[in-house]
Amino acid sequence: MNRRQFLAAAALSGLASACAAPRATGDPAAFHTELRVPPLLEPEVGEDGTRRFALTMQRGRSEILTGKPVETWGFNGPHLGPTIRAARGDRVRMTVTNQLDEASTVHWHGMRLPAKMDGGPHQMIEPGATWSPHWTIDQPAATSWYHPHPHGETARHVYRGLAGMFIIDDPATADLPARYGVDDFPLILQDKLLAEDGSPTGDPSRGTFGILGDRMLVNGTHAAFLNVRTERVRLRILNGSNARMYHLAFADRREFHVVGNDAGLLPTPVEVDRVSLTPGERVEIVVTFTAGEQVLLRTLSGSDDIDEGDFDLLKFVAAPQLAASPRLPAHLAAPAPIAVPPNAVVRRFRLNGHDAINGKEMDMSRIDEVVPAGATEIWEIENTVYAHNFHIHEVAFQVLDVDGEKPPAYASGHKDTVYVPPKSTVRLVVQFGRFTDPATPYMYHCHILRHEDSGMMGQFVIVEPGTENQVPRMTATHHI
Ligand code: C2O
Ligand code: CU
Ligand code: CU
Repeated sequence: MNRRQFLAAAALSGLASACAAPRATGDPAAFHTELRVPPLLEPEVGEDGTRRFALTMQRGRSEILTGKPVETWGFNGPHLGPTIRAARGDRVRMTVTNQLDEASTVHWHGMRLPAKMDGGPHQMIEPGATWSPHWTIDQPAATSWYHPHPHGETARHVYRGLAGMFIIDDPATADLPARYGVDDFPLILQDKLLAEDGSPTGDPSRGTFGILGDRMLVNGTHAAFLNVRTERVRLRILNGSNARMYHLAFADRREFHVVGNDAGLLPTPVEVDRVSLTPGERVEIVVTFTAGEQVLLRTLSGSDDIDEGDFDLLKFVAAPQLAASPRLPAHLAAPAPIAVPPNAVVRRFRLNGHDAINGKEMDMSRIDEVVPAGATEIWEIENTVYAHNFHIHEVAFQVLDVDGEKPPAYASGHKDTVYVPPKSTVRLVVQFGRFTDPATPYMYHCHILRHEDSGMMGQFVIVEPGTENQVPRMTATHHI
């Protein structure tokens, strides 16, 4: 069922009456709840310098609509999770305790780390258990995030509220606003369908795309405003939605600068008046405000099923006087461009329907691809039908082209998730890491969670170059 059909069905069942969200009415008065900013998670620093971050997955109650407490899930609190912040070179250890009544996992989306630490469907955490992955942060400054990844259940666990930001700092990074909660804010965008009592409703594992909500939450806050106190503000925007694609713009169509993509900064800020973001993608922007003004950030509808509807997301309220901000640097500390090696290996992936890649549904006991450590390859993703995107664990990539055309400048940086428009082919140059483990796979998949859960996912391992042929393609343990 597509969104239009859903709305028709919902209207018949009376559900639509519960859907009076602040649409793009242009009425800023509707935005009256102060934006929640997830707290920074303080690490415990061990004797050897390891920074230990403790996360607990738990159920709780929170008010998505003011005055209507409902059950939500979160990390260290009732909804969403704290922001983890670590710098390149840090040794980190996570202790993740599962206090839910069902098994789950925590995946570090965007992180370059050994497969056993990745938190994919092979690293399940049983109820009551604690999982303690550890690694050394060794990648450029970026905005990453974390979320559950249990096979077949990711959509439901994320929809309940399990997600958080993971900011990576790089001491080499240039002069961008970086005071968390002052001039540097995370914005986790999520859409929900809410029942009359304010609880998230709908089944994220049904229909073509799962849930497309009509209530827009930012950091779990519905109809939020953010007080701005500095001339310039950096926004780290994450599409944490199950399926919705956003086309973000300000109500007055002001221009702003994109400074970073999923996996690192851009070489120079790129001026735009609109950016698109599919589930799992991040973008960092810097916006300039004028003292005393108010302006809405909204999403504009597009031409796909996953981006229907204009909605206001967040109101910015600039103080009568704004503290001066440093000028936007002309050059940013971007990671080096990923060069296509001569005779690069090309792998082709066809997204079929909504539950298979190359004609195969995800099988946890099958290794689909074997990649030599340190390789740079071309991955060609062909989409035969409707909207999808594509995420690869552990890597950084750049988009070479979409149907032969270069991506827009603002999306030309290092990424780990990319939109694959209907009936099109996207070519990526993908840089793989050097952690080898022939027995533990990483995932690649569509990040529309309904699709990921129903089998539009595959597995790859990274091995010592020259040993590719020794990897058994089926593992002993069979999961169904
Ligand atoms: Cu954000 Cu495999 O996931
Ligand atoms: Cu990931
Ligand atoms: Cu998909």
